[in-house]
Amino acid sequence: MKKIIKNWLKQLLNYKSNAQIRGNSIPDLGSNNPFVKIGENCYIDNCTIGSYTYLSKNVSMMNTEIGKFCSVAQGVSICLGKHPSSKFVSTHPAFFSVHKQNGMTFSDKQYFIEMGKTTIGNDVWIGVNAIVMDDITIGNGAIIGAGAVVTRDIPPYAIAVGVPAQVIKYRFEPDQISFLEKFEWWNKEHDWLQEHFTELHDIEDFINKYANC
Ligand SMILES: CC(C)(COP(=O)(O)OP(=O)(O)OC[C@H]1O[C@@H](n2cnc3c(N)ncnc32)[C@H](O)[C@@H]1OP(=O)(O)O)[C@@H](O)C(=O)NCCC(=O)NCCS
Repeated sequence: MKKIIKNWLKQLLNYKSNAQIRGNSIPDLGSNNPFVKIGENCYIDNCTIGSYTYLSKNVSMMNTEIGKFCSVAQGVSICLGKHPSSKFVSTHPAFFSVHKQNGMTFSDKQYFIEMGKTTIGNDVWIGVNAIVMDDITIGNGAIIGAGAVVTRDIPPYAIAVGVPAQVIKYRFEPDQISFLEKFEWWNKEHDWLQEHFTELHDIEDFINKYANC
């Protein structure tokens, strides 16, 4: 049964060799054509991946819900896991975790929450080698610059760069962002997007066309 599910996921996700898909990682099953692509040497554990989203090679992503139409560049790490940085005498998991990271543990139960949960919206572009920490929310349409380390939530349509990542600007004006957040083009049917894709080439024309619909 396990093998059947794995083969089915393989076909569905169209993922490249050496990619490891673990835990409850699933593509968006709301669609017959998820068009999700996972590059070489990716490590995906316990994630939900929206339709049309693709991960380039060497991406590590754990405990993450990522929306539709996201572009994740190579070397990106999302939701890394945590060790205690205060109170506990040692950072080593043998003293707080049952997961036996080094093959053994002193712990009779879990004393520290090791994994957070990260949420990434739709149409998010994450640049090469960016790191997105645990428990972060990245809004729809945001861009994370190459090499950024995201330690705080990033609002919709913000462009954030640097270490730690700071918002340097927004892709669109506030009223345009509100429009897009309400319109949710990413939830349109595949055929609608095929027919109308050129309308997504200019934000002003797009809003002019659909503002009164
Ligand atoms: C974030 C990004 C999209 C910004 O592009 P942009 O909107 O055209 O912005 P600009 O190039 O005008 O840069 C704006 C400022 O941010 C700085 N900046 C841009 N990208 C940066 C980055 N990744 N890290 C740190 N600073 C960055 C620029 O130096 C500039 O600073 P200044 O105003 O002091 O001169 C782009 O630089 C980036 O990082 N793209 C990711 C590329 C990538 O990973 N591609 C791989 C897969 S497709």
